[in-house]
Amino acid sequence: MTSPDQERLKSFMQECRTRIETALDARLPPEDKLPARLHQAMRYATLDGGKRLRPILTYATGQTLGVPLDVLDGPACAVEFIHVYSLIHDDLPAMDDDCLRRGRPTCHVQFDEATAILAGDALQALAFEVLAADPTLAVPPRQRIAMIECLAKAVGSCGMVGGQAIDLASVGVSLDLPALELMHIHKTGALIRASVRLAVLACPELDQTIAARLDHYAKCIGLAFQIRDDILDEESDTATLGKTQGKDKAQRKPTYPALLGLAGAKQKAWEICQDAIESLNPLGERADLLRALALFIIQRHS
Ligand code: IPE
Ligand code: IPE
Ligand code: MG
Ligand code: MG
Ligand code: MG
Repeated sequence: MTSPDQERLKSFMQECRTRIETALDARLPPEDKLPARLHQAMRYATLDGGKRLRPILTYATGQTLGVPLDVLDGPACAVEFIHVYSLIHDDLPAMDDDCLRRGRPTCHVQFDEATAILAGDALQALAFEVLAADPTLAVPPRQRIAMIECLAKAVGSCGMVGGQAIDLASVGVSLDLPALELMHIHKTGALIRASVRLAVLACPELDQTIAARLDHYAKCIGLAFQIRDDILDEESDTATLGKTQGKDKAQRKPTYPALLGLAGAKQKAWEICQDAIESLNPLGERADLLRALALFIIQRHS
């Protein structure tokens, strides 16, 4: 990957971050609307933070396929709302019991546990409301339904929530590589895969071979993303991460570095990233942004 591609990615990511911030703000209830404390918690957890990687993936896939970005504001918000809901719940005392997220107190610390649970619940509902009814999502009803189904499957018990259940059941357990991969593909990979798929679904005439290649790309980068998250938990620091470093070891979570060592985990992330990049071959230069994103995912520092 040449540096012009990385430069282009940087400016595209910046453009997407500005765009998604406005789109999320517009779709969240105002903070003085009753019940105000709940709406404040939803806005607190969602706005002004995070890498916005999932919306960026939705927009980047759309850009690759020639889908106007306006059409993708709704799906991009939907994946970020789900992601933020998952972070709020992941940080709760009953789950990872974290007090720092995106450089700020976690939602249950800033508000209270019940409000945090409800804020997560409401963000999940809002994600589906946006897919079902957002007026900027200019696609026929059949495509909207396909998008709703895609997101529901990705986040339910056979997707992200199932992965979280495996994660919690695996504390102190030494999983083998296939079991660890299965957990990561579910808890993190499923939503990342859906972030790409939603943009594909906005493009109904798309050649099925291309759609399958994009799906393979998304599956690979979803896994690579969580491997990098595991690596950063071990070798980064709290200030850079904006979340408490070293939690996985402290909580005896099975991770790639625990199983393969840091060097082995990095090698694995690199191999999976190469697989992702290769799967984009039939798309030619059109997919350079997605190639650069795959590299960003395994090289990021936060
Ligand atoms: C953190 O996701 C949780 C995982 C699924 C590993 P991100 O690293 O994308 O978190 P933000 O959105 O940038 O805060
Ligand atoms: C979180 O994984 C996955 C979901 C929120 C679905 P982690 O527990 O590893 O995420 P961090 O490290 O707390 O961000
Ligand atoms: Mg967790
Ligand atoms: Mg966690
Ligand atoms: Mg983690």
